[in-house]
Amino acid sequence: MAVLPIRLFPDPVLHTQAQEVTDIDGALQKFIDDMADTMYKAPGLGLAANQVGDLHRVIVFDVAQREGKPELMVILNPRITAADGEIIHNEGCLSVRDFSAEVRRSARVCVEGLDRHGKPLTLTAEGLMAVVLQHEIDHLNGLLFLDRLSRLKRSLYLRRLKKRAEAGG
Ligand code: NI
Repeated sequence: MAVLPIRLFPDPVLHTQAQEVTDIDGALQKFIDDMADTMYKAPGLGLAANQVGDLHRVIVFDVAQREGKPELMVILNPRITAADGEIIHNEGCLSVRDFSAEVRRSARVCVEGLDRHGKPLTLTAEGLMAVVLQHEIDHLNGLLFLDRLSRLKRSLYLRRLKKRAEAGG
């Protein structure tokens, strides 16, 4: 198990679409364990493969860790099959330093995919878990929460990033 370096915006890998997982082998199991280590170490609620520079459709997340009873969830090739309602949540991202913003998403989602051993799974989620699932699946599609903000809010962040780069920080 190892903690992997997390790619930061504006790394182009974060804006690249990830490919379906087809080989469920030992290398994948090791990669999933490394992703989990990386997420818990950060710490973060979720992590998508793009964020560690791998372009396969793998997400890990754990919304129970905050209550001190971690429960690792892994989904390969996740896709949202149903969504309804609306939730506005203040989101951050391990790939976007020192910035968070309110993002509007579906309040409830149904996600289908495979578990880490390739067995089909269906998950119905609401609230925070629904937000995390949509955020991580966005990553696999090359989208960051920044891409879901108004142009004005996004430009505030970009300007701040530019100023920091100019200051050499
Ligand atoms: Ni993220």
